[in-house]
Amino acid sequence: MAPSVGIAITLDDSRPYMGGLLDWYDQNARPLPWRIQKVTPWESLLAEIILQQTRMETGLPYWERIRAAYPTPATLAADTEENLLRLWQGCGYYARARNLYKLAKTLDGEDLPESYDSLLKMPGIGPYTAAAIASISFGQPVACVDGNVRRVISRLRAEHLSDPDLQSEANDLLDHNRPGDWNQAMMEIGSLVCTPRNPSCDTCPLESNCLASKSSNPEEWPLRRSTKQAQIDAVVIVVSDSNGILLEARKGRTLGGLWGLPYAEGEVESSELLASRKVKLIGKVRHDFTHKRLDIAVYISEVTENDETRSPESVPMATLDRKVLRFFRAHENKQS
Ligand code: ADE
Ligand code: SF4
Repeated sequence: MAPSVGIAITLDDSRPYMGGLLDWYDQNARPLPWRIQKVTPWESLLAEIILQQTRMETGLPYWERIRAAYPTPATLAADTEENLLRLWQGCGYYARARNLYKLAKTLDGEDLPESYDSLLKMPGIGPYTAAAIASISFGQPVACVDGNVRRVISRLRAEHLSDPDLQSEANDLLDHNRPGDWNQAMMEIGSLVCTPRNPSCDTCPLESNCLASKSSNPEEWPLRRSTKQAQIDAVVIVVSDSNGILLEARKGRTLGGLWGLPYAEGEVESSELLASRKVKLIGKVRHDFTHKRLDIAVYISEVTENDETRSPESVPMATLDRKVLRFFRAHENKQS
């Protein structure tokens, strides 16, 4: 055999061999829309923002709707925030939608910037999203750390690592030839193989590099972030007539931009709200957020002169309000 000359293969041997990951990815990656067709950086950004806080099955239809309505940042900037929120309703974490709108306005007709640093400067784009877009859309060697990657790396090292340590471990592992695929492969392992409970170490391409898999309980890592749910009592009033329902514009970080039923939580605010009209209790609705559990007492009240009712279908509303309305309608049907 002729000796191979002139081909220098440099292996960075400070890096552990993890070549199996990309092979695994090439064969096992879910056929997500942005993996089987070419999508723009903007469409990719929409997906990453939605998927950071929403599960894949839930998030995908939102992504399809929002990218179809706003194929470019300029199309979003030309529309209203309320219309975006209307498409976003039910997806939760509405600050994401408001930030996305701000981003589109800031871009002012320009395309997304390409570098990690300039992406990070844009409103609504944090370290994860900047790294995802820089690597997936622009091929730059920056590592993404989301909850999946945090879990995989903590287990590989069998250590409870700080956020900066996780980022530097992720940077060390990153494949510089295929950074976008590498990042997606790490996330994919986290969602399909290295799951929070019962990780499938037997079929994991990282097993030979993984310290946790050699322990009796890989689930020990990472340290669980406390998810103590605060229990909160709330009240809501449904005022309805043939025109619709009395709705108010929500304020504040969580639900600002959406519409909702007159609502209060906490003893003082709740009793003030209930004292403001003649009300009748019809039942309770429970609603879970990641950090709090709401027990909502649902009241009905007659329309008064100053109430302006409107169709709840015509405005963006949170899932919580829609749930209360369904409960109210079921109650009305039982009465009649
Ligand atoms: N979660 C969020 N974005 C993802 C991606 N691009 N691939 C896999 N999981 C993800
Ligand atoms: Fe996770 Fe097990 Fe794979 Fe380690 S070997 S990364 S614990 S699935």
